[in-house]
Formats: sequence, C-alpha cells, structure tokens
Amino acid sequence: MSTLNILAVGDIYGADGLAFAKEHLRTVKSRFSADLVIVNAENASRGNGTSAADAKELLDAGADALTGGNHSLRHTGFFTVLEDCDNVLRPLNFPELAPGRGHCILYGPEGVRVLLLNAQGQVFMDYSIDNPVTATERVLDKLKGEYDVAVCDFHAEATSEKAVFANAFDGRLSAVWGTHTHVQTADERILPGGTGFLSDLGMTGVADSIIGGAKEGILAYYRTHVRTKIEDAKGECALHGALFTIDASAGRCTGVKRIQFGKESIQ
Ligand SMILES: [Fe+2]
Repeated sequence: MSTLNILAVGDIYGADGLAFAKEHLRTVKSRFSADLVIVNAENASRGNGTSAADAKELLDAGADALTGGNHSLRHTGFFTVLEDCDNVLRPLNFPELAPGRGHCILYGPEGVRVLLLNAQGQVFMDYSIDNPVTATERVLDKLKGEYDVAVCDFHAEATSEKAVFANAFDGRLSAVWGTHTHVQTADERILPGGTGFLSDLGMTGVADSIIGGAKEGILAYYRTHVRTKIEDAKGECALHGALFTIDASAGRCTGVKRIQFGKESIQ
C-alpha cells in the first residue's frame, strides 16, 4: 500500500474566501501532490454556515470532501446536501437526530480506504454536544475492518482540548487537524504512536480581517456590546492548511507540513 498525501484546508470564510478557494484549490493540490483534499466549509456562507451552492462549488473546485462544525446546521437548505452527499460532513457528536453524518470513506491511491471523521469540541463551544472522544471511539469501533487509514477534522476552540483529542487517538488516527479558530498554529508534530497533529489549520479568507470578518462591525460590537451584523471582510486572501503524508500500510503519519498560499505566503 502506498504513501498517501492528504491536504486539509482551513475554514473557508465568506465570499472572498470562497472565491479564492475555488480559484486556487486545484493549484495547491497539484503543487503539494495531494491525493485527497479535505476542506472545512462551515464558514463559507457569509462567514456563517454553508449553503447548498457553496458546497457544490467547493466540490466542483476540487475538494474531495467537506467538513463542518458549530455552524453546520445554520442553513436549512444545506440539510439535503448533508443527507444526500456522503462526502459532506457535520460533526459526528451532534445529536443523533441531526441531519447528516460525521464520517465517510474516501479512496486514495491503490484504493486505500480513508475514513474521514469530523468531530467537535465542547470547551467554549456554543451548545452542548456529546463527548467527542467517546463518540469518535464508537465510530472507530463500529467501522473496524472497513478502512485502512483514519483521519479527523476536530473542530474546537481550545488548544488544550485539541491536544487531548489528538493524544486520545494517537496510533488509531493517522492525522488530526484542528479547525475553528481561523489562526494557524505552529505546533505541527507527529505523536509517538504515529498520529500527525496540528492544533489549527488557519483559514481561507481575507488576510487583513478579524478572523475573516470585517473589522468595523466587530470593533463596534466589542466597544458597545450592541449586536450588529458582522460583514465579511473584503481584500486579498490566503489559503491556510496542512499536508499530512501517511504511510498507508503502517497507518502512521510520516510528515506534517503547514501550508500558507496567497497573501502573506511563506511558500
Ligand atoms: Fe466554527
């Protein structure tokens, strides 16, 4: 079984971020020789949720699967996509009756079966959901023998919870990447059991912004606590993510590379 390169792309934020991802996703995939591209899409629709059209556009642009998070169920028009498309996920530890699913199987080189999971953290998140570690364990146990490699987008706020999650699955998941904070961390590493880990991928959106939103409305809210609509920022974008290289036979990660493409690119 071969080497597998998985490109995980950080949260697509707003109209400019979506347009940038659509324009450059295939270029980035090719540049880093990625076999599979996993995109977090939960902020694609004006920074809040995903629409059916957003999902289609990202899949058409080269994403092999979409993951979500706390905004996954913001738009009712997206529910049919969650129900009908196996490769569009919401967190697996959402209530049992929530639309959609939190895992799918993708196929890499030589038919390697890649179990993609999407889970959400509990710390500082906006509503109560199931324990992400035990919920993920249940999925892995249930699907034992049906996949060769398993990876997870862990959508969470707290760096500490992300470290807990990754270490809980060291050796069982080949890669764990965090999403949600929109700021790329520099803590990429391979845990002793072979799990590649990065606390947060960062985002795909306007570089000069407050985690993707226009500054003015956010600053006004911060000063007054009067709720105002947060607009998407406009301007030059960057795509942030990470490339996980995995020995598919051993199920071990052999390399984690942070990626920044576009404005403030370091490539
Ligand atoms: Fe989020």
